[in-house]
Amino acid sequence: MLDNHHRIVNYLRLSVTDRCNLRCVYCIPEEGIPFMPHREILTYEEMLRLVELCILQGIRKVRLTGGEPLVRKGFIAFVQRLCKTEGLEEITLTTNGVFLKDFARALRDCGICRINVSMDTLKPDRFRLITRRDDYDRVHEGIEEAERVGFNPIKLNVVAMRGINDDEILDFARLTREKPYHVRFIELMPVGSENGFWTAERFIPSKEVFDRIQRLGSLTPIGRTPLDGPSERYTLDGARGEIGFIGALSHHFCANCNRLRLTADGHLRGCLFSEEETDLKTPLREGRDDGYILDLIRHSLEEKPANHGLMELQPRKCTRSMNGIGG
Ligand code: 5AD
Ligand code: SF4
Repeated sequence: MLDNHHRIVNYLRLSVTDRCNLRCVYCIPEEGIPFMPHREILTYEEMLRLVELCILQGIRKVRLTGGEPLVRKGFIAFVQRLCKTEGLEEITLTTNGVFLKDFARALRDCGICRINVSMDTLKPDRFRLITRRDDYDRVHEGIEEAERVGFNPIKLNVVAMRGINDDEILDFARLTREKPYHVRFIELMPVGSENGFWTAERFIPSKEVFDRIQRLGSLTPIGRTPLDGPSERYTLDGARGEIGFIGALSHHFCANCNRLRLTADGHLRGCLFSEEETDLKTPLREGRDDGYILDLIRHSLEEKPANHGLMELQPRKCTRSMNGIGG
C-alpha cells in the first residue's frame, strides 16, 4: 500500500512492551520511568488481530521491539503464533541481548528470520556506563548463542556518540572482517525520556562515521531490496559482514521509510518523531468490527508524514520515549 508520498509501506514495528531491563543513557533515566499499567498494554490476542488487519493493508514484515521484548511473559508462545500468521514474509526481532542466550534456540525454532542486537560498545566497563547494568557478558554470550543456533546475519545496532563510543567505530568496522555480522551505525536521535542526553556535541553524522571507516579500506555499496529499512549498506574490503549507516537525522532516511509503528498500548504511528497517533486499542476493546479498524489503519498509513522535520538538528520533545515506541 502506498502512502500519500508514494512510499510503499510494508513494514510494521510492533512494540510488545515498554519495559526494559537496561537503562541506556539515551533512552531511560537511571531512576527508571513509570511504565505503562498492564491493562493498557495490548494482550497478545489483540496484537495478533491488529497484525492480521495490517497485513490486509499491505504489511509484509513485522519487527518485534520493546522496550525489551524478551522480558514480556509468554513472548515465545506469542511468536510461535505470529510466525504461523499467513501473509507475513519476514518476522524479525530487536533485542538488547541480555536474555538472548536463553531464548535464541526457541526463537529460531519459531521461525524468526533475523535478530538485531543493540550493542554500543565492545568494552565491558563502558557497557556498564552506557546501559547502567552489568550485563556485557550475557549479551556477548547471547550473540554467540544466536550465531550457534544459525541466525545469519546477526545485526548489531551501534548508536554512535561522540566522546562515548566513537573511539570504537573502527573496532566495530573491523569486526565485520572477523565475523559475518552486519554492523549498523545509528545516528543519536533526540528522543527518549532522557531528552537532555542529546547534544550537538554528542551527535555524529553518519557521513563522519563513513569517512572514518574509509581509512580502513574501501566501502562498496550494496543494492537495496523492497523490504529494506532506511539503512545504507556497504561492505568493507575483505569483510565477511556488512556495515550499515542509519542517518536517522541527516540522510535520505524519510524518503525510504516503509514503516508503521504499533505501540505496546495499541497506538499506530506513522513516524517515530511525529506526535500523530491513531488509537486502535479503544475501538478494539469497544468491539468494533474489522472494517472500522481497517479504515483507521488505512488513514494512519496514508497520513504518514513526508519527513520528520528534524533536519535542523534541534532537540525536540517527543511525548513518548523510545522504549514506548520501539525504535
Ligand atoms: N538514538 C538512536 N538510537 C536509539 N535507540 C534507542 N534510543 C535511541 C536514540 N535516542 C536504538 C537502540 C536500539 C534501537 C531499537 O533503537 O539502541 O538499537
Ligand atoms: Fe532498553 Fe533499548 Fe532503551 Fe536500552 S535503548 S534502555 S535496551 S529499550
